[in-house]
Amino acid sequence: MSDFYEKLKEYAAYTEEGLNAILPKRENYQKTIYDAMRYSLLAGGKRIRPVLSFVTAELFGLDIETVKPFALAIEMIHTSSLIHDDLPAMDNDDYRRGRLSCHKRFDEATAILAGDALLTYAFEVAGDGASGLITKAVVSGNEELARNASKVVALLANRVGTEGMIGGQVIDLKAEDTIIDEYEHDTLCRLKTGCLLTVPAEISGLIAGRKETPEYGLIVDYSKSIGLAFQIRDDILDVEGDPHLLGKNIGMDDADNKTTFVTLYGIDGAKQKLEELTQRAVNDCKALMALESCSTQSAEFLLELANFLLERKY
Ligand code: IPE
Ligand code: IPE
Ligand code: MG
Ligand code: MG
Ligand code: MG
Repeated sequence: MSDFYEKLKEYAAYTEEGLNAILPKRENYQKTIYDAMRYSLLAGGKRIRPVLSFVTAELFGLDIETVKPFALAIEMIHTSSLIHDDLPAMDNDDYRRGRLSCHKRFDEATAILAGDALLTYAFEVAGDGASGLITKAVVSGNEELARNASKVVALLANRVGTEGMIGGQVIDLKAEDTIIDEYEHDTLCRLKTGCLLTVPAEISGLIAGRKETPEYGLIVDYSKSIGLAFQIRDDILDVEGDPHLLGKNIGMDDADNKTTFVTLYGIDGAKQKLEELTQRAVNDCKALMALESCSTQSAEFLLELANFLLERKY
């Protein structure tokens, strides 16, 4: 196995372990909600968002433990968005991550609450993580870190809310029965998918105190490019993917009458856009490699990640 796949597996395993530890099984009166949360969270997603948290932390010279609470929070927020996305009132999907979707395995009410609970718990975990960093910073007299760490939770909330992922999902629903143009569709995807794929780098940059640097501009540009590319690939896979590899049904966008990259540009046009965005992300990585202030190894990993996402089958 190449170094890239080895490292990708390592980051994913570290995420898996972390998620399992912070959300243990519970045998109390409200056992069902813990079961539903764990059912969806520990169903083996790709863990791309935590991977981005860890590799961007290392890019800036931080330990992965420093961003771990935020990485786990982002994955819980993402899973919460998937549980709600699959509900009959939204995309009405029966399969997710290779198993029945949460509302099919449990019921709609439990799925709504499990999504809410994962979202809420994510902010508890992120809040605790930020407090820990602030306490450490105060003890060591690092005022800049204390200031930056105090901004993490609000930043994360902004990228999830009406100007972030949730805002994108709202436009996505509107796009089911209204024709939206390519500009509105671009905003839709930058919000619904791009925000949660960009916030890992934003948080790492903030904690590392790198916000005003060229490397921060490059990594945010990289993240925005792969964020959009990620949705293009998702739309393509919904047309020509293998449901067994994907762990979810295909043809759902057509069934829901969605405006997607494929309906707007055709399969070939969508593939061309995907390649252009990947190239842009690759160029950002090359520029990062040339900077002494960044880990070359991490920039190389990010370059390979962009190519991996270009061709992903799941
Ligand atoms: C699926 O996300 C939803 C989109 C944003 C397109 P992922 O493809 O990252 O799903 P998992 O986490 O691997 O299941
Ligand atoms: C999902 O987009 C985006 C979010 C969950 C925020 P899709 O609806 O295209 O994702 P899939 O195809 O169901 O995974
Ligand atoms: Mg959707
Ligand atoms: Mg969906
Ligand atoms: Mg999709």
